[in-house]
Amino acid sequence: MNQLALFGGQPVRTQPFPSWPVHGEREEALALEVLRSGQWWRYTLGEAIDGAASPSKVAEFQQKFAAAHGCKYGIACVNGTAALEIGLKALGVKPGDDVIVPPYTFIATASAPMLIGANPVFCDIDIDTLNLDAGKLEAAITPRTRAIIPVHFAGLAADMEAILEIAARHGIPVLEDAAHGHGGAWRNQPLGSIGAMATFSFQASKNMTAGEGGIVVTNDERLAEIAESLVWVGRKKGRPWYEHHRLGWNYRLTEFQAAILLAQLERLAEQTRRRQENGAWLTAQLEQIPGIRPMAVPAYATGHAWHIYCLRFVESAFGATRERFLEAMAAEGVPGSSGYAHSLFNNPLFDESFQRYNETCAASNRACREAVWFEHRYLLGERADMESIAAAVRKVYENRGELARTA
Ligand SMILES: Cc1ncc(COP(=O)(O)O)c(C=O)c1O
Repeated sequence: MNQLALFGGQPVRTQPFPSWPVHGEREEALALEVLRSGQWWRYTLGEAIDGAASPSKVAEFQQKFAAAHGCKYGIACVNGTAALEIGLKALGVKPGDDVIVPPYTFIATASAPMLIGANPVFCDIDIDTLNLDAGKLEAAITPRTRAIIPVHFAGLAADMEAILEIAARHGIPVLEDAAHGHGGAWRNQPLGSIGAMATFSFQASKNMTAGEGGIVVTNDERLAEIAESLVWVGRKKGRPWYEHHRLGWNYRLTEFQAAILLAQLERLAEQTRRRQENGAWLTAQLEQIPGIRPMAVPAYATGHAWHIYCLRFVESAFGATRERFLEAMAAEGVPGSSGYAHSLFNNPLFDESFQRYNETCAASNRACREAVWFEHRYLLGERADMESIAAAVRKVYENRGELARTA
């Protein structure tokens, strides 16, 4: 049998996967244009909404990104965490209100409500999709619930039909956390255009990046105006510079970041297509291996954005521990990670009262024990790269006995 690289055998692959971010002449040209213009900062308040003749890079990016995601309005800001805060504030969430969030996500989904004095209320996920379990949503609603934040985890659409139906019945707005969802779709509708508002992140790991950055998108003119005002320290379009109408912040993105993001947006559709093709092919291979459970893709998730290639690793079915599997895969040239170590409520940030969620959010805890993540840049490779991932998993499976013995 082919010896594992962990024990001195030949690794399945020695070549690196495509690096991230992908960049080239377009990023260079647009960034240089900003540099040479000396206009590194532009006054764009209201511009994105009006569609000025020669928009700043920020205004141009806001419009193009929003349009590509089925929205009329885009309000760029410093990062995805700030975008969530802005979205919640625009929706009228106040201190003491409850905001429903999944526990299997990045901290920002829960910390954004906390940063404005609201309480995160955790609703468990579905173990097959790793998205909010709509069947448990209604039980999480309290008299103080003022927003629901479904995350399109890993780029897979949340169960929006069920979520929107419950939310509408209770008169609660839905804010999509689409930090993983650039270019993705639900029932052929772009992620980000389904709820009242949505937020995206452009942090370095995301499917579009300028190192940092974020955006709020919506089709609601009133919400867009509030969000933009919040980004501009509470200013109002057409009003004097030192007149402030609400408690905002300087959440602005720079012209340099917008220039890079414009170029990144031009690459998005083709990269998404490639990730989708490779992701689907890989799933068809990996789901045949005992103990390997790639994320389910329900029919409504018509466009997976594949921010993460995620699977569940069921130790008893595979015959080795997840930690040993990850060590063996790394040695074969396919490093992965175990993802979130805790359901959010088990982070030291949260006091003991949050321990109750261990009872109601068992699927999230299970996902923390079982998940294996591979970076989206792997999916930008060729078919041969996908074959090598599948070959590495098969090789580790075939050698599982030795792996278990040497644990
Ligand atoms: C699901 C989710 N929401 C929000 C964010 C916050 O984005 P940022 O890092 O740009 O603040 C992230 C970032 O990783 C995320 O993964």
